[in-house]
Amino acid sequence: MYLTRYEERMLQGEEGEVKRKALEVIVKIGEVVGAERLIDVVHAHVSGISYFSIGDYGLELLEELQGSGTKVTVFTTANPYSLALTPDFCKLFEEHVIAKQRRIVDILKKMGVAESFTCTPYLLRTPKQGEHLAWAESNAVLYANSVLDAYTNREGGIVALMAAIVGKTYCGGMHLYKNRIPRVHVIVRGSIRSRVVAGLVGYKIGELVKEVPYISFTSVTPSDLPIGSIKQMLAALGTSSDLAMAVIERVTPNYREYLRRADLSKRVVINVEEIVKEPCTSSGDVLFVGCPHLDLEELKELTLLLERGLANNFREVWVGVSAKVFELGYRLGLVQKLREHGVKFAVNACPVVTKLDTSNKVEIVTDSVKAFSYIPRISGRSTSLLDPKVW
Ligand code: F3S
Repeated sequence: MYLTRYEERMLQGEEGEVKRKALEVIVKIGEVVGAERLIDVVHAHVSGISYFSIGDYGLELLEELQGSGTKVTVFTTANPYSLALTPDFCKLFEEHVIAKQRRIVDILKKMGVAESFTCTPYLLRTPKQGEHLAWAESNAVLYANSVLDAYTNREGGIVALMAAIVGKTYCGGMHLYKNRIPRVHVIVRGSIRSRVVAGLVGYKIGELVKEVPYISFTSVTPSDLPIGSIKQMLAALGTSSDLAMAVIERVTPNYREYLRRADLSKRVVINVEEIVKEPCTSSGDVLFVGCPHLDLEELKELTLLLERGLANNFREVWVGVSAKVFELGYRLGLVQKLREHGVKFAVNACPVVTKLDTSNKVEIVTDSVKAFSYIPRISGRSTSLLDPKVW
């Protein structure tokens, strides 16, 4: 692999031991995937910061990094942490879990990671088209590549952290235009009338397709696909597959250019009516929305739904948001209205990456196919999909 003189010096330890090791990791991965050089990134996004995911071993690694005074060298964001640190949920957790989760977050902040912890980092800093990123978190990676046409691979959490430390990643995979050109045409037939349906469509595409798809719709106008539905579709696609990108007709900024270069002789047809078979419900113990974290528009939509009576169908409503969206919602009075309907906020946090107490046999209902897929596996809780007619 070709390295600049600066990168050579970093690899020889002239910039410090931690940078040397971080760069070594990135170079090794780059060599495995056949990358010819490294590339500067402008934004890194780290995942895997829940104490329930990384445990004591992960915390020790972070302690070591902090002990050496390591800082990130590019703008860096991180995924949500567990519910243990959130005022609305912390009573559910033992003191030592809360303390360790706090330690993880404190270390990341001291390293220079942004204060808002979210799986929608594009709301903190929206990448420009063609910008190179080193992002972990599948839904965010798919959003960056597919909706913003920024360039990122689907990194592991640790590799994204190493990229944040050196400000570079290997120039392979989705960083190369040729690898972004779609290789299979996915034709979606039928109406995508809700977020839940969009999620089911995304999940199905991920099950059927192993290469970058070009997704077109036979009976959908852009207004039928609000950004909330696109988020759900991409999050579900990332759940059922390793894909990092989909070119979406009329959504991906330069979809025409990608289409012009693509050979789409391979075709997959998805009939929406055939895949909406999961049993759905519009009532239950806990309604959880905000996987991925809600943006302000979604928060407004949710407020209207709860005001029209949805809150009466559930004992509790949990909402996942970043601190930034929470603050914006607070200024607009949305947070106060939602609290009146008994909403509990997972601010900067994620119930899915939290090991919820399985002795408490509540059933969770969600609009997110990603959460629907992961919560039973991680927490053993019975989970249902929200009736698509609701949202
Ligand atoms: Fe975000 Fe947690 Fe869902 S990190 S995408 S809310 S699983």
